[in-house]
Amino acid sequence: MEEDNSADEAYEFPFGDAFEEDTNTYPYGTFSAVASHVCSPRLVALAAARLGQVDDQTLFVDLGCGIGAVSNLVGREFGCRVVGVDCCEAQLVEARLAAPPRARYLCCDLFALPEHVAVTEADLVFYIYLIPKMVNHVKLRDMLEPYLTQGARVVTSTYHPDYWHAKATDDTFSLRLFDKTTKRRETSSNFQIT
Ligand SMILES: C[S@@+](CC[C@H](N)C(=O)[O-])C[C@H]1O[C@@H](n2cnc3c(N)ncnc32)[C@H](O)[C@@H]1O
Repeated sequence: MEEDNSADEAYEFPFGDAFEEDTNTYPYGTFSAVASHVCSPRLVALAAARLGQVDDQTLFVDLGCGIGAVSNLVGREFGCRVVGVDCCEAQLVEARLAAPPRARYLCCDLFALPEHVAVTEADLVFYIYLIPKMVNHVKLRDMLEPYLTQGARVVTSTYHPDYWHAKATDDTFSLRLFDKTTKRRETSSNFQIT
């Protein structure tokens, strides 16, 4: 039976078709890996870092960092350590070329994050610009909540989780902030990867 992808944002992007069968580079095919080479604008990246109260003590993690447009900029402007995670090595090659000294890039599925960054890591700020199905994925929620409990902040861009109440919003740049005071919403779409 042919899969119905009509609600998948991959099809909104001109290069969406290229990912369809590419589960080697992109773990969930179109489900996750759209918007490759789509970068947050500079002003959005800076606003996200400010909303997350990034400073030089922060470990800034860009989950799905692409070519490092956000992580390299934030690392340079705020003097903090950054970790960029992406499943696409070709993009990470570009990211590393422009990386400031305290940047580290990991090629893996973003759900492998706990293997690389401890929940107890001090002053963690996550930046997340992913498609709605990834952002609203229960697996992402369940991975991030232990970090939030330990004091991490999560900033989402453009597409926001429907399972949490935001602590603060920046409507100019479509950003939301979540932290240890964040509570779950009663209802959410609870996407699952099968
Ligand atoms: C919209 S881009 C955002 C890039 C960067 N964060 C920015 O804002 O400029 C989303 C990125 O997430 C990556 N991605 C999507 N699903 C992923 C997964 N399961 N594991 C790792 N990276 C993933 C894609 O390869 C893509 O580079």
